[in-house]
Amino acid sequence: MGGLNIKGVPFFKPSIRDEEIEGVTEVLKSGWLTKGKVTEEFEKECMKFLSASACLAVSSGTAGLHLALLGLGLRPGDEVITTSLTHVATVQSILYVGAKPVFADIEPETMNISPDEVLKKVTPKTKAILPVHFAGHPCDMDALREIAQKYGLSIVEDAAHAFGASYKGKPLGSNGFGDITVFSFYPNKPITTGEGGLICGEKERIDKIRVLSHHGIVYPSRGRLWRYDAVELGYKYNFTDIQAAIGLAQLRKSEKLLLRRKRIFERYNEAFKHEEALITPVIKDYASPSYYIYPLRLNLRALKCSRDEFAFALEQEGVGISVHYSPPVHLHSYYRRTLGLREGDLPVTEEASRSELSLPLYPDMRDEEIDFVVERVFKLIKSFKR
Ligand SMILES: Cc1ncc(COP(=O)(O)O)c(C=O)c1O
Repeated sequence: MGGLNIKGVPFFKPSIRDEEIEGVTEVLKSGWLTKGKVTEEFEKECMKFLSASACLAVSSGTAGLHLALLGLGLRPGDEVITTSLTHVATVQSILYVGAKPVFADIEPETMNISPDEVLKKVTPKTKAILPVHFAGHPCDMDALREIAQKYGLSIVEDAAHAFGASYKGKPLGSNGFGDITVFSFYPNKPITTGEGGLICGEKERIDKIRVLSHHGIVYPSRGRLWRYDAVELGYKYNFTDIQAAIGLAQLRKSEKLLLRRKRIFERYNEAFKHEEALITPVIKDYASPSYYIYPLRLNLRALKCSRDEFAFALEQEGVGISVHYSPPVHLHSYYRRTLGLREGDLPVTEEASRSELSLPLYPDMRDEEIDFVVERVFKLIKSFKR
């Protein structure tokens, strides 16, 4: 291993350097810690980077999804079609507004929601589609848009994984795909602000959501700022200048971070492509992903172990791993209990959930560390192969 004597590789490490630390220090010294001018600058820079009409930074991606659905006027009795191969946050946001999550199965290749399956789930109560750009690979947005237009549905894109990704050459978050796009800046996301999220959409809609994100309060245009008026039932979901300082530093180097992620992804794909026990991730020609994770799948028919056994053995070998997602949301106890769902309801999702294994992928990962992971994966394949 080039004399490096690597003992292990973590699943993820954030790329934090002096520029983030200096930005945060400046804010701490400024005397203004919550949402202010630095947040405004961050939102403007995100707008430029994403070619978005308007952006609102909020406390988390989860808060962003909740606000997006509120902003579109979703209410009890409405149905929202989404994927089950996601973080529970996606589905919780639907429940927060009192609407009903309806799960559509995924495409086996991209693990994104399948437009054909969405079509089967549309009812007169359907009001929106909530696709997730799984692993940062964009969904088939033209097909989803066509369904939305035909049935008069809104689209909220859960782009928590996908900051920096493009669909047919246009960045997610720019206008034209969903009605609202929501990103997450959780520590392992393509760029981070510690915790945080970003909502992108038409200016008028974002202005309305901005009010909801801060207690439903509007301020007089000048003077007497204490004479504010709460015009709606809002939430305390605002961003802070401390988060914005981290975000600005991350945004400035985001293209470099993305390129390094892409390189690692390609090295894994190259190393694993001829191994019949592995199914490497596919990139569709319409997609330029954010390379958020490397979602490898095990061909369990070629192995005499389960994914969990393989994952555990890999951890024992010093490789940090994760799984996206197991169980899928519909098989968590709360969702089984409240939505009456069970195993077998979403066969493609369940198969992906049984076989997926995410390998370490982060911009600061060294080439020797990639080699270490590859070598350990092959070592285990050798011992587990039928
Ligand atoms: C698909 C998806 N949606 C939503 C979220 C929620 O984002 P946050 O952690 O910023 O609230 C996550 C977080 O990991 C996610 O993976």
